[in-house]
Amino acid sequence: MSHILAIETSCDETAAAVLKDGRNVLSSVVGVQWDIHRKYGGVVPELACRRHIEIIHPLTEEALKKGGIALKDLDAIAVTSSPGLIGALLVGVSFAKALSYSLKIPLIPVNHLEGHLWAISLEKRVPRPFIGLVVSGGHTNLYLVEEMGKYKLLGSTLDDAAGEAFDKVARMLGLGFPGGPAIELYGMKGKPDAVAFPRALLNRKGLDFSFSGIKTAVLSYVRGMYNVAHVDDIPEALAGNDQFKADVAASFQQAVVDVLVSRTISAARKTGVSRIVISGGVACNKLLRKRIKSDAEENGIKVYIPSPQYCTDNAAMIAWVGYRYFKKGISADLRLNPGADSSMG
Ligand code: KG4
Ligand code: ZN
Repeated sequence: MSHILAIETSCDETAAAVLKDGRNVLSSVVGVQWDIHRKYGGVVPELACRRHIEIIHPLTEEALKKGGIALKDLDAIAVTSSPGLIGALLVGVSFAKALSYSLKIPLIPVNHLEGHLWAISLEKRVPRPFIGLVVSGGHTNLYLVEEMGKYKLLGSTLDDAAGEAFDKVARMLGLGFPGGPAIELYGMKGKPDAVAFPRALLNRKGLDFSFSGIKTAVLSYVRGMYNVAHVDDIPEALAGNDQFKADVAASFQQAVVDVLVSRTISAARKTGVSRIVISGGVACNKLLRKRIKSDAEENGIKVYIPSPQYCTDNAAMIAWVGYRYFKKGISADLRLNPGADSSMG
């Protein structure tokens, strides 16, 4: 029997989880910081770090308590060590180092993207190989996953990540933070074909993405319709025009989902792989979940998506990967430093 405690602090969620025998999630606790960052319309790194420092201790205690586990029962500490906001990562890594040192148990560094890729395994076994789309606030990466540790990056965003585009457009329209859920909510009342926003790169070969053009297209459209000089004045100019905001949100969401679905299915067809896994915060999006399933099925491809709690940042996915490295005897010493590098394996 083994128990792994995992710590995740790569961005604005402080998370801790306890995993038993590499499979059973005994607890997964996530502390969100939306109230802190909302008024800025995006994550402020310095504030994120400070909040991590404040809550990492009580949050870890809560995870241990919920899991019915004492510190002495732990066999290893897994921690997200890259990529992410460097100061935020530093909090988790320092905390995990201290625990590993005092408990004399291995310290296992885990790549955040590798955590997202395997989050599905907390709920379902997916045969290999599969196409993995990590679609979050910081990344939009398409991988061919042959097995644990063997990844080929097939495409990624040339500019903004998809989640970043959701956040920026929501901020522009004054819809709230985080932007993904806000756009989704507004979009429900809007017409997805109200505005034909661009589907960037879809007419080009390759599997890369680009989302900054669509953000600019939304800005130009809204400015054109309302004659607003400065982007910060848009929310006020749109106040009360809920149908307009809903139509823009629905059309924006439709365009982003079209691109994500089309590229991911192309990746599966090009590589001849008949399984797709999507994960990361944007994979919570209901339209994306529905569209990728139906379009993939038409192409004989099976789609696997974690439940929303394991799509957004969490520590259970870090524990799942950490356990695999623990079994292989891979660990780090106290010189471990967090990094911005996204390469895995
Ligand atoms: O994976 P995640 O929790 O953190 C990162 O690793 O970045 O992803 C956060 C991102 C945010 O940009 C957020 O707006 C987006 O995921 N997101 C969504 C939805 N829920 C969260 N985007 C679209 N639709 C959603 N329902
Ligand atoms: Zn993430």
